[in-house]
Amino acid sequence: VEGIENIQNEFLKLKKEKNAVLMAHYYQEDEIQDIADFVGDSLALAQFASKTEADIIIVAGVHFMGETAKILSPDKTVLVPDLNAGCSLADSCPPDQFSEFIKQYPDHKVITYVNTSADIKALSDIVVTSTNAKAIVDSFDKDEKLIFGPDRNLGNYINGITGRNMILWDGACHVHEKFSLEKILDLKKENPDAKLLAHPECKKPLLMVADHVGSTAALLNFSSKDDGNKYIVATESGILHQMKLKSPEKTFIPAPPNDSTCACNDCNFMRLNTMTKLYNALKYTWPTIEVEESIRLKAVQPIEKMLDISN
Ligand code: 13P
Ligand code: SF4
Repeated sequence: VEGIENIQNEFLKLKKEKNAVLMAHYYQEDEIQDIADFVGDSLALAQFASKTEADIIIVAGVHFMGETAKILSPDKTVLVPDLNAGCSLADSCPPDQFSEFIKQYPDHKVITYVNTSADIKALSDIVVTSTNAKAIVDSFDKDEKLIFGPDRNLGNYINGITGRNMILWDGACHVHEKFSLEKILDLKKENPDAKLLAHPECKKPLLMVADHVGSTAALLNFSSKDDGNKYIVATESGILHQMKLKSPEKTFIPAPPNDSTCACNDCNFMRLNTMTKLYNALKYTWPTIEVEESIRLKAVQPIEKMLDISN
């Protein structure tokens, strides 16, 4: 702990000297969340990055979050401390294949989840996050034909709650697809008072038995306002930190993955970020996120459309 506190203090000093801000996703380690200027879900991080007046934005999250920040604030230096912090969902949608896919449906509007590369955003009409996906899909005329990518589970879920029939790209997140429905149902039997909270990136059978489905921000909000006292949480376990901080009297149980030999409910990409790497990234102003200007100009439009609808 002492070591961590030292690094945290050095980092905070340097952050001030360099006029930098640290934004962290809910899936980060507790010690990173605790010293961040801002902790939020993907939508809130994009909103924060578009408004900050700092010179440097340090993104404690994954690559696409850094890219989104850079696309919105091209004049800022954006740091992601480990460029290997990718996202299996974003990787499940290669731009050349997605481009061919959407060409098959020229009369369709293209809606993409923010968990994608800048190239995919540049091919999109509008971007969504799990917080605003329903509202944005609802904003299209009922007879508008829609493609949704890359998350098939979120797409399916949004189709269900909006009564749409969007054509879906077949992508998924490896963390959210690994929760074991069987073990969750056993947990529910052992804890009959526990409510199941699930992120819409989880598979349909799990979402069907969930008491509440929503983005990380929505699940956190629900858990703090709800009158229950115990929750099984089916999303990356980093979110439990804020849940416990907001509701110290309640019990939160991370949903178990189907493989009990690994911590599969931790996102290995998100967890590549450490306090030491954050400190080094800030010290050396490296590694930076760069987005080619021609791509950025195309990608910024669907992101800004999303932000306009969500503000
Ligand atoms: P949120 O939009 O809820 O922050 O989700 C981000 C994410 O990566 C989910 O796996
Ligand atoms: Fe991507 Fe899944 Fe990790 Fe979220 S939890 S960053 S969707 S791999």
